[in-house]
Amino acid sequence: MENPYIPRKAVITNIEDETYDTKTFTFEFKDCQKGIEFKPGQFVMLSIFGYGEAAISIASDMDDPSHLELTVRKVGDVTGALFSLKEGDQVGIRGPYGNSWPVSDAEGKQLLLVIGGCGCGTLRPVILYHRNNPKKFKSMEVLYGARTPGDIIYKKYHEEEWSKIPNTRILLSVDRVPENTYWKHEVGVVTTLFEDIKTNPEEALVFICGPEIMMKYSVIGLLKLGFNPDRIFCSMERRMRCGLGLCGHCQLGSKYVCKDGPIFSYTELKHLPDHIVRSD
Ligand SMILES: Cc1cc2nc3c(=O)[nH]c(=O)nc-3n(C[C@H](O)[C@H](O)[C@H](O)COP(=O)(O)OP(=O)(O)OC[C@H]3O[C@@H](n4cnc5c(N)ncnc54)[C@H](O)[C@@H]3O)c2cc1C
Ligand code: FES
Repeated sequence: MENPYIPRKAVITNIEDETYDTKTFTFEFKDCQKGIEFKPGQFVMLSIFGYGEAAISIASDMDDPSHLELTVRKVGDVTGALFSLKEGDQVGIRGPYGNSWPVSDAEGKQLLLVIGGCGCGTLRPVILYHRNNPKKFKSMEVLYGARTPGDIIYKKYHEEEWSKIPNTRILLSVDRVPENTYWKHEVGVVTTLFEDIKTNPEEALVFICGPEIMMKYSVIGLLKLGFNPDRIFCSMERRMRCGLGLCGHCQLGSKYVCKDGPIFSYTELKHLPDHIVRSD
């Protein structure tokens, strides 16, 4: 029987700087040309040999499984070791794991994405799916908040590519603008952008990803605007070890984030303990 803990070997083929602490890495698999098939919202366990593993969301185009893109923020041992690698170096990758954003439920409907900081990686495959299939959703609105203009990732795509997708609006906001920095968008936390939402709450699905505190206040604001709790989905992060629903490290009440999640509807989430994404 195949050992599910043994990763596939992958080579770094490109490294792109996003911000001072975040990079997007492209990988190709050594064992076959086929690459990796995944659904938007799924994650992989990335191993840096000699350091350990970290859960990272897949940020690439699911219609092009020949390579894999991961957008990673340097926070500790594994991500720090990844940042010391260069093109041509090898890593291990196992997965994909977890459930996915319910994109097929959003077909024919309006879609609202609310993104905070580095959380953008997990929603990028949804944006790329919409770019490749612009008639599947009635419309897409993306609200993206970051700490400062320098913390915004995928900058080059916002204006050049994503805002040109038919029926798509991209709204940006930052918490603060440092002196002598050009910024033409909103200033304030991401919920500041809620005043300008054009999406109709009655028919929309909402996908949210970011720090828990940001998801909490986003849910509160969206419920006030009349969005349906069954159709608000959040991507949760917990420390992962196996990624397979076996070790219990990622437990959230009766659920395992790695297997039952990472994506939960707000209706599911509000009955689970040990998180702050709740409106009461
Ligand atoms: C489903 C899922 C998807 C993720 N997707 C991405 C992604 O696309 N890009 C990305 O950069 N990161 C992502 N993460 C977070 C990433 O897994 C952690 O940042 C990573 O494990 C850090 O590993 P490290 O060894 O570098 O840090 P460590 O040395 O383990 O930790 C450094 C610091 O970060 C804290 N920390 C580490 N992991 C977590 C966590 N999961 N929650 C809260 N605090 C934590 C530690 O307490 C410590 O303070 C995801 C996590 C999950 C569960
Ligand atoms: S990480 Fe082991 S059960 Fe989820």
